[in-house]
Amino acid sequence: MAQAEIGLIGLGTMGAALAMNIAEKGFPIAVWNRTTEVTHRFAAQAGDLAPRVIPTDSLQALVQAITPPRAIILMVPAGQAVDDQLQALAPLLDADDLVIDAGNADFHDTNRRAAAGLPFRFLGMGVSGGEEGARHGPAIMGGGDAADWDRVAHVMTAISAKADDGTPCAARMGDAGAGHFVKMVHNGIEYADMQMIAEAYGLMRDGLTLEAPAISDIFADWNRGTLSSYLIEISAKVTAARDPHTGAAMPDVILDRAGQKGTGRWTAIEAQHLSAPIPVIEAAVMARNVSARLDERQAGQARFGAAPGAVDLTPDDLEQALIAGKILCYAQGFTMIAGASERFGWTLDLPEIARVWRAGCIIRSTMLNDMADALADDPARNLIMAPFFADLIEGALPGLRRVVSQGIAAGHALPALASGLMWFDMMRTARGTANMIQAQRDFFGAHGFQRLDGIDDPHGPWGSAT
Ligand code: 6PG
Repeated sequence: MAQAEIGLIGLGTMGAALAMNIAEKGFPIAVWNRTTEVTHRFAAQAGDLAPRVIPTDSLQALVQAITPPRAIILMVPAGQAVDDQLQALAPLLDADDLVIDAGNADFHDTNRRAAAGLPFRFLGMGVSGGEEGARHGPAIMGGGDAADWDRVAHVMTAISAKADDGTPCAARMGDAGAGHFVKMVHNGIEYADMQMIAEAYGLMRDGLTLEAPAISDIFADWNRGTLSSYLIEISAKVTAARDPHTGAAMPDVILDRAGQKGTGRWTAIEAQHLSAPIPVIEAAVMARNVSARLDERQAGQARFGAAPGAVDLTPDDLEQALIAGKILCYAQGFTMIAGASERFGWTLDLPEIARVWRAGCIIRSTMLNDMADALADDPARNLIMAPFFADLIEGALPGLRRVVSQGIAAGHALPALASGLMWFDMMRTARGTANMIQAQRDFFGAHGFQRLDGIDDPHGPWGSAT
């Protein structure tokens, strides 16, 4: 008997947490997992929410348990598993049933699926916040037809995080892959935020020779100011934690080799296709890739003895560097989103994206409130030119410059912070050096150039110089 308002397929960590969240908000939910045992264990552990959780043993049973027109959330690994699931659902669903892919899909796949003429309705939906977010309030970035989003918007807003002003952090971003695109850029920014924090941590650990508890206090202090954010908060907790096995500080027992599932890499690749400069994110992806090459780095240190040295910096310098780096990184990310909006005809709403990111997601921060305001004021203006952020950058820039120059001089690797500064210095330079590039291109390839004085002579006198 159909009694569920919504269905969910895939009871892994994220799926299970999302299903509990949905049930808790009052929506009866039918669930199905490939392994029946997992489905029943989930239902058995639902506690007070059990009356609203309907475990099913087959896809057919799942479909039958949901009131038509049905809505089914897919929480399965991105890629082939999604295509397989859509194929399996096809003969079971009606044309007005709706399937929502809530995994970390590549937005190109979501575009492809939306255009594939599936025999049911389809939404792509980015969900951020990890397990805790999925359980108690994630940020939700939807993509697909407005009418399909509207059908499930009441569920999505109910389960989503709420910003301080009470606004739900769930919205439709645009057509087809738009939600997954915005989630991808979110993850790219996540990589960059994490990398910049890791660089500040490295300067404190190796340049100021601070122990983890002292570093934790500094992070905790920053979390009370302009940098207040989830990632700074957890960095304070991570550096405060003790290893139960050895009693050492947790970061000191963890290998410096970071994994990745690929969303940061996708952001960097897509930025190249869009000609969107996002050097801070690219640097963060590069740093993860370098981190994976532990053997080579050990050989490098053995050959070049490159242990980073002492720096004459204060925690305040580092805080200022992170403030500036963060603004520069987000300015790049939002510009990339604007570029994609134009390229794909999505009319992405930049202030709305900033608003959705204010709570629930991994990159949530106090600063996103001001970013949402600045973007609402003028979405077409680069964030660094918004008066509030221009002032903030001006104040924080000397700290960033000190940190990057001192750090580099002492042998610290600061790819993200340095890339932010390089980009900023290019962005505030009206006459850069691309005139030299143009001359070279014309010299070897007769590619032509424009002159400063307007004289119509698009080629240089290189013949005499060869
Ligand atoms: C989120 C996270 C989440 C996941 C990333 C991690 O917003 O909840 O971004 O989606 O933690 O996929 O990505 P990596 O494994 O690539 O670091």
